[in-house]
Amino acid sequence: MDKKVKTIGVLSSGGDAPGMNAAIRAVVRTAINRGLHVMGIRRGYNGLLSGDMFEMNLRSVSDILHRGGTVLYTARCPEFVTEEGVEKGRNMCFEMGIDGLVVIGGDGSFRGARDLSLKGIPCIGVTGTIDNDISSSQYTVGFDTALNTVVDMVDRLRDTSQSHDRCTVVEVMGRRCGDIALHAGIACGATCVLVPEIPFDLDRDVITRIGRSTRTGKQHFIIMVAEGVGGVEQMAKYIQEKTGVETRATILGHVQRGGSPSARDRVVASEMGHHAVELLQQGIGNRVVVYRDNKIVDLDILEGLNMKRVFDKHLYDIANEISI
Ligand code: ADP
Ligand code: F6P
Repeated sequence: MDKKVKTIGVLSSGGDAPGMNAAIRAVVRTAINRGLHVMGIRRGYNGLLSGDMFEMNLRSVSDILHRGGTVLYTARCPEFVTEEGVEKGRNMCFEMGIDGLVVIGGDGSFRGARDLSLKGIPCIGVTGTIDNDISSSQYTVGFDTALNTVVDMVDRLRDTSQSHDRCTVVEVMGRRCGDIALHAGIACGATCVLVPEIPFDLDRDVITRIGRSTRTGKQHFIIMVAEGVGGVEQMAKYIQEKTGVETRATILGHVQRGGSPSARDRVVASEMGHHAVELLQQGIGNRVVVYRDNKIVDLDILEGLNMKRVFDKHLYDIANEISI
């Protein structure tokens, strides 16, 4: 592409994640520092379709680095999944003079970014999701903060669980991805970790383990369950019935998505946002900025979307071995 990029847009899309603001800030600051204009688009692709956007300056992103959520708001936009929606988005880019777009979100958002790139607007995806479920990236912005939030809350649950000699079944976020459950399970010393990636049997993998630990003197238990597995209330009843240990279920819910981003999320988001602008400045689009082997790199969006996610079975085995 030989057309010089003058104005770029930035939006956040899908579920919010701590660190999205750090990515927005890096995009805005890098772009302005390089002589580009930046349009902040509100509420994901919705704002692109309705023209809900404003020109950002260096001070538009002051004081946001440490804040959770996203100052650009986020949304899911069913219209953008359609060909007509993408066409409308492209026309709005032409109308507003946007000749490149940074999309901060997850796989769904990147599909939209690819569709728009194919229609002539270079788009760059930047990972922003607490789930750590983007196959092409070994790390997604928001995961570390969410994980630390979960650890903090489960430590509290452990206090009460221990005081009452109870079993606590905790559901953490992750519809299709058990990474939060797995990492939090290890960090919190859970007796069992149940994730959607690995089939399990309640009697063999939970009841038997609780029984074995009880015989060696353990009196309280944490069972870490990913959202994608679900059913924690029934699970708690079943555990109590089968083991005789008083059991409670807790669903941590959306509290996991909020809060000030960790240092790691701020740094990775800043690097990714910066990298995204460097690509757009060269007229390169249809790429996703990812974290691989301790480096920030970029890949073709479709290539990234087609990668198969690899669950860390080794870490899962470690969790099981040391939780007895
Ligand atoms: P995430 O980006 O976190 O995976 P979603 O899957 O909800 O979140 O996607 C966010 C938005 O991305 C959707 O609301 C939609 O506007 C857009 N999107 C999702 N899938 C597609 C698709 N196949 N084609 C075009 N746009 C899509
Ligand atoms: O993708 C992030 C995530 O928090 C998932 O872990 C969870 O399943 C989903 O979003 C919840 O979405 P919503 O905000 O629509 O309830």
